[in-house]
Amino acid sequence: MAAFLPLLALLFLGARAQHGSQWTYSEGALDQTQWSKEYPSCGGRRQSPIDLQRRNVQYNPSLKALKLTGYKSQGGQFPMTNNGHTAQISLPPTMRMTAADGTEYIAKQMHFHWGGESSEISGSEHTIDGIRYVAEVHIVHYNSKYKSYDIAQSAPDGLAVLAALIKVEDYGENTYYSTFISQLNNIRYPGQSTVLSDLDIRDMLPENVHHYYSYKGSLTTPPCTENVYWFVLASPIMFSRAQGWKLENSILDHQNKTLHNIYRMTQPLNNRVVETNFMNLPNERSEFQLYLTKLGNKLENLKSLPEKKKAKEHHQE
Ligand SMILES: *[C@@H]1O[C@H](CO)[C@@H](O)[C@H](O)[C@H]1NC(C)=O
Repeated sequence: MAAFLPLLALLFLGARAQHGSQWTYSEGALDQTQWSKEYPSCGGRRQSPIDLQRRNVQYNPSLKALKLTGYKSQGGQFPMTNNGHTAQISLPPTMRMTAADGTEYIAKQMHFHWGGESSEISGSEHTIDGIRYVAEVHIVHYNSKYKSYDIAQSAPDGLAVLAALIKVEDYGENTYYSTFISQLNNIRYPGQSTVLSDLDIRDMLPENVHHYYSYKGSLTTPPCTENVYWFVLASPIMFSRAQGWKLENSILDHQNKTLHNIYRMTQPLNNRVVETNFMNLPNERSEFQLYLTKLGNKLENLKSLPEKKKAKEHHQE
């Protein structure tokens, strides 16, 4: 009889993998390297997240700042759920983001990605020059030309995500996140929900929301649909160490294990271009210095040219 148990367990796991609903980041039959078997878009050429390489971005001064409306304090009831993959807050349709091209997007939900596995604490999805931040927040919007998120999610120009990276250092407590973080205790198990009131998403973003990286990509979880206009803010959100720890250690997955390392690896850029609406100051300065040095050398050459010529003529005589 005992010999049957492992077999039964295998059959059970096999059946579940076939149903395909239980994708994971790093364990089981449908970890992130296998997503494309059940969700073909995950193997596409315009996937997210990506590494944002500052030396390869294209500065586009005509990219206007995002217009965020309804992001400030709103009374109301905002459900916050443990969906087995992350902590997610439902957002009201009065929250909107207008992109540089004038397209208006309606907010749907926000959720988080983090690390926390013992040897590896960082868990942002986008990296900057290869550096992974501690965590990342995604505010998911859909194009207002569609009647609902459900329709927009499969349309080619359906979605836009405003992302911000979270940095943890010896900072003081970020009080704009206190309620959210304390409520994590109430959604410990998958399927549990709680309600937030007086949500102020503007406060939960970095002070500078002007400067961003932007590119066309995909959802970072199955089905990985390639219809997301990404806006990754250049400035990070700051958490205290205690807040970072609580984010990483408060909620559980479907196996009642703490949700750790819930982020997707960076995907190939292929032939996409990442644009920014800010100048990359440190690099920009060194480029400028290089330019000045070159210019200086040229002037030096020009100045000494008549003398060289004279010297040459003299020599020929
Ligand atoms: C997880 O823990 C809860 C509470 O103890 C329990 O009700 C549930 O059955 C557990 N689930 C699994 C998959 O072990």
